[in-house]
Amino acid sequence: MEERHIKWDGRKLTVLDQRALPNREIYLDLESYKDVAWAIKEMVVRGAPLIGIVAAFGVVLGFKKGGKKEEVFKVLSSTRPTARNLFWALEAMEKVWGDERDLEEKALEIWREDVEANRKIGKIGASLIDGEVRILTHCNAGALATGGYGTALGVVRKAFEEGKVEMVYACETRPYLQGARLTVWELQKDGIPVTLVCDNMVGFLLWKDMVDLAVVGADRVAKNGDVANKIGTYGISVLFKEHKKPFYVAAPKSSWDYSLEDGTSIVIEERDAKEVLEIRGVPIAPPGTRVFNPSFDITPAENITAIISEEGVFRPR
Ligand code: MRU
Repeated sequence: MEERHIKWDGRKLTVLDQRALPNREIYLDLESYKDVAWAIKEMVVRGAPLIGIVAAFGVVLGFKKGGKKEEVFKVLSSTRPTARNLFWALEAMEKVWGDERDLEEKALEIWREDVEANRKIGKIGASLIDGEVRILTHCNAGALATGGYGTALGVVRKAFEEGKVEMVYACETRPYLQGARLTVWELQKDGIPVTLVCDNMVGFLLWKDMVDLAVVGADRVAKNGDVANKIGTYGISVLFKEHKKPFYVAAPKSSWDYSLEDGTSIVIEERDAKEVLEIRGVPIAPPGTRVFNPSFDITPAENITAIISEEGVFRPR
């Protein structure tokens, strides 16, 4: 993906509105920290590393426009609760609050280092793959979800470059359809072969021996290797364990939370019932239907073959 999905010109942050993909490519200008908080909350931008990067520029804008420190950090940190990267980036920005140039440089560094980490993750992840494989992925852990290149899709990109990818199976990722709308869009742009499947087809794919391994991203990794990622990830991990196929998680260090012994206390965001009750504005259930809409789940460390970070491969036991 060559296009820039985020651009910073020193005064505003311009972002690709991911809500409109794949049908329309619309760019929005974010000119204040409140604009940035709105964009994160409303899923204009999403994906753990990207949320962190965009929030960092939110802090820059907050300072530039004379925002009060407490207020800027409060508003940005209360946008989405699960991704560690948001809090990691805000903590880094808080340390340089007080100097406009330092803030801007820090935000640019967070962005640049994320892309570098993803390239390393891609390289390390691809080295774990032998021969030509069929890879399953869930949600979108690609260039769109990061500063660029992607984590799980970084592994896919590098493996494809090395001639190791026969097919990528992208789960549609109900209810928000990040797989169908974003992962397919992104892989098609790069000419990587991709087949879209509904989330409930993964068991059948494995039963038919149509897939060799899974690679997904992470929103937060606990010290023991438990992983919070997009809802549905846990179920997929159980199926891969049952079929004795590798299940990889690709996650930069900015997603790791060493303050948590395990995944039990990770806060799982619950989102609006509308996301489940409607598809692109069209109702799919009777009015008034009760809904449970957790946006993430926890995959226990024992279901994970390896977690790939920019620093190497961690094999939870
Ligand atoms: O709700 P989203 O779209 O922000 O969720 C994104 C995911 O769950 C991704 O897999 C995760 O953030 C990793 S992105 C590199």
